[in-house]
Amino acid sequence: MIRTIAIANQKGGVGKTTTAVNLSASLAAQGRRVLLIDVDPQGNATMGAGINKNGLEQSVYTVLLGEASMLDARVKAQGGFDLIPANRDLAGAEVEMVNMPDRETKLKDAIHTLKAAIAAVAEEYDYILIDCPPTLNLLTLNALCAADSVLIPMQCEYYALEGLSDLVGTLRKMQQHLNPTLEIEGLLRTMYDPRMTLSQQVAAQLEQHFGNKLFKAVIPRNVRLAEAPSHGLPVLLVDKASKGAQAYMQLAAELIARHEAQPSD
Ligand SMILES: Nc1ncnc2c1ncn2[C@@H]1O[C@H](COP(=O)(O)OP(=O)(O)OP(=O)(O)O)[C@@H](O)[C@H]1O
Ligand SMILES: [Mg+2]
Repeated sequence: MIRTIAIANQKGGVGKTTTAVNLSASLAAQGRRVLLIDVDPQGNATMGAGINKNGLEQSVYTVLLGEASMLDARVKAQGGFDLIPANRDLAGAEVEMVNMPDRETKLKDAIHTLKAAIAAVAEEYDYILIDCPPTLNLLTLNALCAADSVLIPMQCEYYALEGLSDLVGTLRKMQQHLNPTLEIEGLLRTMYDPRMTLSQQVAAQLEQHFGNKLFKAVIPRNVRLAEAPSHGLPVLLVDKASKGAQAYMQLAAELIARHEAQPSD
């Protein structure tokens, strides 16, 4: 395995799920073996990858409760990658995981549950992406504990920077207490509208503050990206020439170039 990346931002609606589904499909289209894990009870990544979230027998919920293995729960998604799906059952998982009878050091074990589950399948994949909910709860902590790095989607709007300092603070605490090797994979500008002066200003500000932590790929506001989930498909399978599809292909290429650089001879 090359990299496990949590896609997180406690701000809602910034493009986490859109990024999770479309980056998974774009990495797969570039020949990489990808597993996407949905840890959001909203199940948006699950639906967006063409899997009906209602009536799932196995899901990330049953995995976290130790009732199923990753192998039991995984399904083939639309777009050439594997998926561990989620639905609203997962909303109860937090309480149940901590209250499981055989847990001795309850919370600590509960936080490491996903990491332990991933270890069983890690060798089968090049990239494992985790779509997080817009909250900092036990599910997000599980994701941040299991991950090598965090990819942070950000809308280029006025309040974006404000939320970012909270997130960076959270990541620092994670590094101090739970996952000392956790890195920031990068900040991703999403829903970018080049016609808006504010979008341009915020994008430039991000460049100034975060330099090399900012992905060069910028995801434009693009109607195809917004429509694709209604077909249960990544945008690549809806309109691969669209600006949205191209931008996620570029993001995938950027990740690959970063982590799979050929040794020079
Ligand atoms: N680049 C884009 N262009 C147009 N629409 C987009 C784009 N990215 C995301 N959207 C739309 O914006 C909405 C929010 O996106 P998304 O669900 O990916 O955000 P999220 O961060 O996962 O939200 P949540 O915090 O609820 O999990 C969705 O309706 C999605 O289709
Ligand atoms: Mg989401």
